[in-house]
Amino acid sequence: MLRNGEVTVNGQLCDDPGADFDTSNLHFAINGESWPYKERSYLMLNKPANYECSHKTQHHPTIYSLLPYPLVARDVQCIGRLDEDTTGLILLSDDGQFIHRMSSPKWKVPKVYEVTTKHAVDAEQMAALLKGVQLVDDPATIAALACTQISENIIHLTLAEGKYHQVKRMLAAVSNRVEGLKRLRIGALQLPDDLPEGEWRWLDEASLLALNTAERNSTD
Ligand code: URA
Repeated sequence: MLRNGEVTVNGQLCDDPGADFDTSNLHFAINGESWPYKERSYLMLNKPANYECSHKTQHHPTIYSLLPYPLVARDVQCIGRLDEDTTGLILLSDDGQFIHRMSSPKWKVPKVYEVTTKHAVDAEQMAALLKGVQLVDDPATIAALACTQISENIIHLTLAEGKYHQVKRMLAAVSNRVEGLKRLRIGALQLPDDLPEGEWRWLDEASLLALNTAERNSTD
């Protein structure tokens, strides 16, 4: 971008990739759009349905098309994946260590999903989800950390893992079916009410700290 003459620093065109800058409070512009300098990028996105969490998509556009091109050029990656029909909170970063920690099964960062089901969820199903269910092709039983009934056909399910199609497979294991799925929370971070679908936002220092603190606590 610098070589292409797309970048101005303090209002001056800068086309020297080797130039040095004081990065404290540095703002620069790419093609006229102002950006704060960040050593690493940490973002959240409210994923809409019909987007795929992949660079090489098969049927739908990629979630990366929802981000401005300088962030994609920085190679931010989503942390874990949501199915194409799942909506809600997804984190992205270009900090490899953070991505690894947040997605590693070892850290067990809890994730909360709002699940809309085809059939009314009964007490027996709730109990089974909490006690542990057996997924097809998976010998170990798997249990929700928490399960709260919101209405006949809506539950909030908290999971410690992020196995492939986990929510859908768990609901299938109790003879129900997922009709709608939205991720509401990752660790201490709640999907903000004022972040519309398809929009992204920087994680602020407090959110980042809360995520890292919750992670550490999860190993206690
Ligand atoms: N579980 C699923 O089944 N799908 C998702 O997208 C996330 C969790």
